[in-house]
Amino acid sequence: MLYADARIFLTENKASLVYSRLIKRLRALNLESFSDYCALLREEDNGERQEMLSALTTNVTRFFRERHHFDHLEHSVLPPLLARARRGERARLWSAACSSGEEPYSIALTALHLDPRVADLDIKVLATDIDPRMIAHGREGLYPEAALVEDVPPQALQRYFAKEGAGRRAGADLRRMIAFRRLNLNAAWPMRGPFDAIFCRNVAIYFDDATQRALWAKFAAMLAPGGWLYIGHSERVDGPAAACFDSAGVTSYRRNTATAPEVSS
Ligand SMILES: C[S@@+](CC[C@H](N)C(=O)[O-])C[C@H]1O[C@@H](n2cnc3c(N)ncnc32)[C@H](O)[C@@H]1O
Repeated sequence: MLYADARIFLTENKASLVYSRLIKRLRALNLESFSDYCALLREEDNGERQEMLSALTTNVTRFFRERHHFDHLEHSVLPPLLARARRGERARLWSAACSSGEEPYSIALTALHLDPRVADLDIKVLATDIDPRMIAHGREGLYPEAALVEDVPPQALQRYFAKEGAGRRAGADLRRMIAFRRLNLNAAWPMRGPFDAIFCRNVAIYFDDATQRALWAKFAAMLAPGGWLYIGHSERVDGPAAACFDSAGVTSYRRNTATAPEVSS
């Protein structure tokens, strides 16, 4: 079911992980066995399939994770994009599989660091994830103080987050720049692009080879020539779409002018 819905590919050796995550669902639902749980999952439209997906996805993330991507974004990618936006043109970045939002907020913080007036320009970050709870979290923009203090530079923290209870909430400048939407990377995409940069990090590892290759091809079609693709530290672009990307540093790629391969969805 998980593979059919999300193309997340779990092998037999993940059985104990599946058990430990789903046993909580059984308890919450007062079910006695996994057979009862499977029967429930087979019923139509009771929402449990979505709950199962949320329970089985790994949402680990943090602000400025794999910092070298944000250094590259700051020094090589954003300056020409900001110059373009100042001339009234648009710039589009995409955090694909954004989890609870730390990644798109880090992208927006990097742009604001370069120019605090960037929120008034037509430069936007699309933030998508398959898990609606993660999208709700990102939209809410509320994070524990400890996570922010550890990873976000103090000046940015003061300027762009407001204290709220035991945490801080992203302020208006950040929120204006980011649109959070639910999106399954392995289903049809409603947006047309093109994007100037795509962050798709630490999600392709959960997909099988064929699914990864189809995804790289879809990104190749969505990126503007000269656009950038960042992937996770244990991932690599391969298959037919690899010809569309030039390596541009550690897990960073630049879209060249080769024609993107056809993909079915
Ligand atoms: C480990 S997090 C990565 C977060 C962030 N990109 C990072 O590197 O810190 C993986 C995310 O991928 C999402 N995900 C898994 N399968 C997906 C799919 N088919 N489409 C979109 N998002 C998916 C999960 O919900 C989860 O939030």
